[in-house]
Amino acid sequence: MNKAILKLIQGNEEFIKETLKKDSNFFEKLSNIQQPEYLWIGCSDSRIPADKITNQMPGTIFVHRNIANQINPLDFNVLSVIYYSLYYLKIQNIIVCGHYNCGGILASILIAQKKKKFGFLENWLLPIKELYSNNKEIYKHFQENDLENISRQLSELNVLKQMETFEELTLVRQFLKETQKTLNLFGMIYDVKDGKLKLLKERTLYYED
Ligand code: CO
Repeated sequence: MNKAILKLIQGNEEFIKETLKKDSNFFEKLSNIQQPEYLWIGCSDSRIPADKITNQMPGTIFVHRNIANQINPLDFNVLSVIYYSLYYLKIQNIIVCGHYNCGGILASILIAQKKKKFGFLENWLLPIKELYSNNKEIYKHFQENDLENISRQLSELNVLKQMETFEELTLVRQFLKETQKTLNLFGMIYDVKDGKLKLLKERTLYYED
């Protein structure tokens, strides 16, 4: 067998063994229904698997990941995930998780500063490039080439921006109006340098006339 895929298949066998050691009915219980408590909208970055970094078992977190954890109202994919989470999985806790040292955030800054090109990816990163360009006062005390500090600020700002977008989505407003339920929206940021996950902002959403 191909070595690359063999590594994953063997890993899967170990995962099954270890999981059954802790709970012999684990897979049986999960097989008929999924009732995750959380929706996680995070970055595709391979260093940030939602359930692993929060020490949760499969079945707890419904996940959507894309480059730089964006909620773009034109993205049919993220909208479908949100719709399914709210109406069918009845999830009430939504997490938007960004991270420091995000390649997507760094690329957006370099595109805005006209220092590097990223080809097709520039389409996807356009909203973040604009977020950078429209908030220059936030980074004015940093040198233009201080990418570490600028990108930290922009990673946080991006999470707050995506939270705003979530709240404004017509499908979310419609859901709140129809169901009169509340939703808990959490903005978080993960530091790949020390593995720490931190809460940036918390909002309770409910229908208002
Ligand atoms: Co990233």
